[in-house]
Amino acid sequence: MHTEERTFIAVKPDGVRRGLIGEILRRFEAKGYKIIGLKMLQVTNEQAAAHYAEHEGKPFYPRLIKYIQSGPIVAIALKGYNVVAGARHMMGATDPDKAEVGTMRADFAQVKEYNIVHGSDSVESAERELAIYFRPEELFEGAKSMSELVVESLDADY
Ligand code: RTP
Ligand code: MG
Repeated sequence: MHTEERTFIAVKPDGVRRGLIGEILRRFEAKGYKIIGLKMLQVTNEQAAAHYAEHEGKPFYPRLIKYIQSGPIVAIALKGYNVVAGARHMMGATDPDKAEVGTMRADFAQVKEYNIVHGSDSVESAERELAIYFRPEELFEGAKSMSELVVESLDADY
């Protein structure tokens, strides 16, 4: 009845610089999403172009490419029930001014050009983006996820 998904999250360079790696990971982990991949890396020109292909030609594209390469990011692969939409809900709207209070962007960012965190917007985007940043052997899916344990306990027959 519940289908698990995977998503790609990145702590963007401003999030890393500002010391928010732990806070962002903490929130996703506390939700029960399983971290199945994790690394710090410098985004290459090829990775930036592939990641943001949908935005090519838009006025903010050159700045976006420069921003995502302005320092290391932390690439995170998450697994969980409805994790694609759920993680974006926790991140909040693109523009931190419009994001709901309590979301990461509302709580930790001020402008949309520096909004500290990225999350895939669909299951298809997630798989495409995971492949840009992780090799298959860098994703660890073996153990039972926290999400499964959470749902198992709800479904338990007492
Ligand atoms: P993301 O991809 O980073 O999770 O963000 P998103 O889906 O909420 O927003 P999207 O439309 O995909 O835009 C990607 C990133 O580009 C920057 N942006 N700047 N100046 C602008 O008008 C503008 N619009 C978007 C933001 O960093 C946004 O997260
Ligand atoms: Mg997006």
